[in-house]
Parts: sequence; C-alpha cells; structure tokens
Amino acid sequence: MLFVPVFEDDGQLQALPGLDEATNGDIGRARAGGEFRGKLYEFFIARVVAGPYRAARVALVGAGRRADSDPERLRRLAAACGYTARLRSVRTAALVVRDGFDLLTTAQFCADGMSSAEFDSGSYKTSDKDAGRFPDRVVIVAPGADARALADAVFRGRTVGDCANRARALANEPGNVLTPRVFADRVAQMSQAVGLSVEVLNEDRIRELGMGLLLAVAQGSAEPPRLVVIRHDPPGAPRTPVLGFIGKGVTFDTGGVSIKPADGMERMKDDMAGGAAVAAAMRALAILKAPRRVIAVIPMAENAVGGRSMRPGDVLTAASGATVEVINTDAEGRLLLGDALWYAQQLGATHLVDVATLTGACMVALGRAASGLFAAPDNWADTVREAGQRAGDRLWPLPLYDEYREMLRSEIADVINSSGRWGGASTAAVFLREFVNGRPWAHLDIAGTAWLEDRKAYQPKGATGVAVRTLTELGLMADLPLPPDRR
Ligand code: BES
Ligand code: MN
Ligand code: ZN
Repeated sequence: MLFVPVFEDDGQLQALPGLDEATNGDIGRARAGGEFRGKLYEFFIARVVAGPYRAARVALVGAGRRADSDPERLRRLAAACGYTARLRSVRTAALVVRDGFDLLTTAQFCADGMSSAEFDSGSYKTSDKDAGRFPDRVVIVAPGADARALADAVFRGRTVGDCANRARALANEPGNVLTPRVFADRVAQMSQAVGLSVEVLNEDRIRELGMGLLLAVAQGSAEPPRLVVIRHDPPGAPRTPVLGFIGKGVTFDTGGVSIKPADGMERMKDDMAGGAAVAAAMRALAILKAPRRVIAVIPMAENAVGGRSMRPGDVLTAASGATVEVINTDAEGRLLLGDALWYAQQLGATHLVDVATLTGACMVALGRAASGLFAAPDNWADTVREAGQRAGDRLWPLPLYDEYREMLRSEIADVINSSGRWGGASTAAVFLREFVNGRPWAHLDIAGTAWLEDRKAYQPKGATGVAVRTLTELGLMADLPLPPDRR
C-alpha cells in the first residue's frame, strides 16, 4: 500500500505523475467530487490498476492545510498511515515524503511516525484480535533525496520512534508489575543491550549516599527504592559539557498519607513516565552514537500508604544537606528528584534537564496541549525549547519568580515541600531549583502530556512517550551553550 499525504490546498498532484491514471481516474474523481478533500487524517483508498506504480493500492491521507504543517503534524500523519496499514494487516507499506519541506527532516519524521504505529501496548488481554499486524516492511520514498543521507535520516527516525515506544510500554505497565526493582531491571537491560554502562543502586547504597528524600518517599512501601545511573561516554567525546538527564520514577503514586481521591487514581501507574523517557532517550543516543557525554539519573520508588509511611510534618535531610519539612506526602516527586539532581551534579553533569509528571497544577495551566518548561539561565531555556520545537514535543515556558520561593518558607526547616494550590507548578519547580548549584537547568513538567486520555487517529489511549524526542535531540545537538563559570 502506497501512502500519499495530500494537502487540502494541493492543486494537481504533480509530485506523483501518472497516479490518477494508475487508479483509472479514481483519485481525480474523488478529489473533484469532494469525496476526498485532504482534511487531516481523512483516508481514501483506491486500487492501482496500471503502471508505473508497483503498489496494489494507493491510500491518500489528508494532511490538512499546507501552511499548518509542522514536523509534529507530519509525524502524526505518518503514524496514522502506520495504524491504517496495521489495522488492514498490509504486508508492505510505502510512505511518500511530500515536497516543500526539508526532505531529510521530513523523512526522519515519517520513519519515526511509522515506527510509533508498531507500538505494542503491552496489553494483558488474553485474546487481542483487534491489534492487526504491522507491516513486515516499511519504505520511505523521498524523490530527489541523496540515498545515503536519506538512509541516515530514516534510521534516526526509526530509532527515536522505537525508543519512544519503549518508554510508552514502560509507562503503561501497572504498578503491581513495574515495581522499582522491576523498573530498574528493565531499564538496565534495555541500556546494556546497546552498550551503555548502567549502575543500579540499592537501598543500602542510597542510604550511604544520605538520600533522605528518596528514602522517605519509599519508606511506606513494601518495595525498596532503586536509583539507576546510565552513562553514555563515547570515546573521544569532549570532557564537557556533560548533559545530565533526571527522570521521576514513581512506579505508583497513592499520595501516601495525604492520600489521593479514588477517582482516576489508577492513572498514577504512569508517574514514572519521566524516568522511562530518560532511559529511552539514553538508548536512542547510544544507538545513534551521540558524540557527547550524557549521564542519566533515575530515582525509583513507590509512594505508598503504610505504617512506615512518611507523615506530614516530618523533617527530612536531603543528600545535599538541605532539610525539608513535609507538608503534603503527595508532593513526593520533587523530593526524590531533589536527591537525584544533587547526585547528577556529583557525577559531573554540567547541564541538567529533569522530566517529571510533577504537578496537577501544570495540567490546570496548560491542559494536555503542552508540557511546562521551567529553566535558567535564559540561553539554556531557549536551547531546550528549540530542541523541543524541532523534535515535536511542545514545551511552554512558565516562571520561576522569587515569590514562589517565599511560598516555600518553613518554620522548622530550610524549605517546605508544598504550599498548596496557587502557582503549584512553579512552586514545585522552585523547590527543585534548591538542589541545582547554579548550573544550567531545565525542568519539564509532563503531567498533562504523558498520558493520552482519548484515542486519536495517530495514537491509542495511554502513555505518549513525551520528552523522549526532545532529550534525544539535545544529546545530538552540535552546540550547547557552555556552562557559566559561576553564578
Ligand atoms: N504525580 C502527581 C502529579 C500528577 C497529577 C501527575 C495528575 C499527573 C496527573 C504528583 O506527585 C502530585 O501528586 N502532585 C500534587 C502536588 C501537591 C500535593 C502540591 C498535585 O499536583 O496535586
Ligand atoms: Mn504525588
Ligand atoms: Zn507523583
């Protein structure tokens, strides 16, 4: 099946000469008669009855208005093609890269999108007949592209798409299956398989390092915490910069003693989506041989209710030495991330990016349309935002004003962990900043974007793999602003 994106405002399909004749005029009639207008995700499938095309069928897929097109939309379009191919159990699918955009970037996104349709949702259904069968072979057709460069672009897209699928699969796993120990094992396995070096710290090691925040989150659970460190250290890479990726790895968030309402709590199995995104991006960077050093730190714990759970009012001591008064045990993500941010810097990270399903408040602010971006200094914020832009993850900047820091004042400790509803995404971010020693740092709050509530033409309900593409893009970028001497 040959998939051809068609824009609403396309005139004649000059990009594919003879296609109309090859379908015996079906395509021309469908377009002239309004049966196919090119609206986004609209499909029209015709039989190919004559040459020169070798496909048995051609599927026109609506691409909307050309001016509205961006890489993310093209990727979704390719994913919709992939799903269509899969649902119809098409054996070989080809996707045409349309003219008018950067050919190689578009080819990359087409391969990425197609790969995302291969996603195995990790269904536990004992009979799953509706899933269809993904093609044995997918071809990306880019007329006029240099063959070698095209192969590289397609490989990159395929790699990123596949790695994002792995992040999605992890985040979809239920909390009884994906405990911190299992999460650590699976991350270690998928990292070692591509030659990354991995270290899994157990509870004793975590205690030796003095990570009182991570330990406090984990202490209510029967499942012990883990801290996973993944290193990408390619030979010949410059000593600095060293990117540090930190991902929230709460395998289930009940809220702890400050327990969450029952309604929708099942979703809190994905509270490790940030950690999964970080691990998946590391895998992509290893496969793509990123030429710089990257260190990932993923703190893993279950935030459970139990006789040993931390209590509101408890005072904790972080590995950095800072003390924290717990106001709300449901503000657990910032706790374990505080220790992980500290550790990433201990290990030599010079430029930090953390990714976390951190606050409902961020979802209130931005809905599901964008992740929150909190970053300093400005040139690092711009770098991360541009990486997101190119990669197809929407990041929207939110502030880190001093007023938010004032809201975290404690009577008894250096800082409280929660100051209530107002500005909740920003106060959480400012809490994290307490653990950053003046290095370039960005925090992505993916609470609203990590999970898709209603299925789309391009994606099933569930984990989205958000941030995998941005982190990968950052790791592959040629220039990063160098760290300031001191701030
Ligand atoms: N994991 C949640 C945030 C979350 C909420 C993610 C909804 C995805 C969807 C986080 O640990 C949390 O509970 N945050 C609290 C913070 C509050 C207690 C200050 C929240 O947002 O309500
Ligand atoms: Mn919570
Ligand atoms: Zn949480």
